[in-house]
Amino acid sequence: MTGHVALDPVALDPGGTRGAALAAVRGAFARAGLDEPALDARILVAEAAGVRPGVLLAELERPLGADATARLAGFAARRLAHEPVWRILGEAEFWGLRFRLAPQTLVPRPDTETLVETALALAPGRAPRILDLGTGSGCILVALLAERRDASGIGLDRSEEACRTARENARANGVGDRAAFVVGDWTGALAPAPGFDLVVSNPPYIPEGDLPGLAREVRAHDPVRALDGGADGLDAYRAILARGRDLLAPGGVLAVEVGIGQAEPVSRLGETHGLVFLRLARDLAGIPRIVVFGR
Ligand SMILES: C[S@@+](CC[C@H](N)C(=O)[O-])C[C@H]1O[C@@H](n2cnc3c(N)ncnc32)[C@H](O)[C@@H]1O
Repeated sequence: MTGHVALDPVALDPGGTRGAALAAVRGAFARAGLDEPALDARILVAEAAGVRPGVLLAELERPLGADATARLAGFAARRLAHEPVWRILGEAEFWGLRFRLAPQTLVPRPDTETLVETALALAPGRAPRILDLGTGSGCILVALLAERRDASGIGLDRSEEACRTARENARANGVGDRAAFVVGDWTGALAPAPGFDLVVSNPPYIPEGDLPGLAREVRAHDPVRALDGGADGLDAYRAILARGRDLLAPGGVLAVEVGIGQAEPVSRLGETHGLVFLRLARDLAGIPRIVVFGR
């Protein structure tokens, strides 16, 4: 098939339209059993063509062009090898903002928007000081600072590359002047009693025995440091909640995202460390996802 770009098990015609490429890629993704073949195909064809996904659908009759076809073949091959769409694009959307990704940062998940929503509802009226533990791409802190123009905050992560990426994301989203990023092992790097109004964290919480059973997209492409919560998945909560009271200003709140079935043990753990359980928030699927404590 000379002149055609191979995309096992279909071929893309470099002289074809965007619509034909979309159908070919969508079909290949569906045959490969990917979860969302239509959505993934639309995002990748739009990226290859250099247009927004919404614009793509209005211009399906336009030729895709040889360069874009070659780009698309590369993207499709990566997706067929189970690389997530956001890794292929190198950026992800969270809270309506764009976040650049690095190999050391987790792809932000929609569930984590529940943490942003909960924290915003609990933020004090005065200019809040925020601490985001395990900041990764910086998505939680940056979303909070974008919503609260009077707030300032620190994002902390053990990964230097994550902190660098988060700093860039803060700048790119216009909140860089109110965000600082610190490399450290949970709270060890912070001065005693800094008095934060909001402490937020989406720590690693997968029990280590469950890691091999995760989807290939997650297992092979998200950093293990962002996932591995130790033997019972609760190691990070032990470290964070032990310092919780010292970190909070009077009236401050600490909100952590938890995995399925972890809300109760995490609530108990917080109370063991002298925190007061305030409330639970559920994600869009109704799963208890955020545990909130006060001092
Ligand atoms: C589940 S990811 C969350 C990333 C980001 N906040 C989000 O919601 O997408 C957990 C983050 O905690 C960081 N982390 C893991 N162990 C840590 C430690 N001991 N101290 C500080 N950060 C740590 C990881 O590098 C990772 O970025």
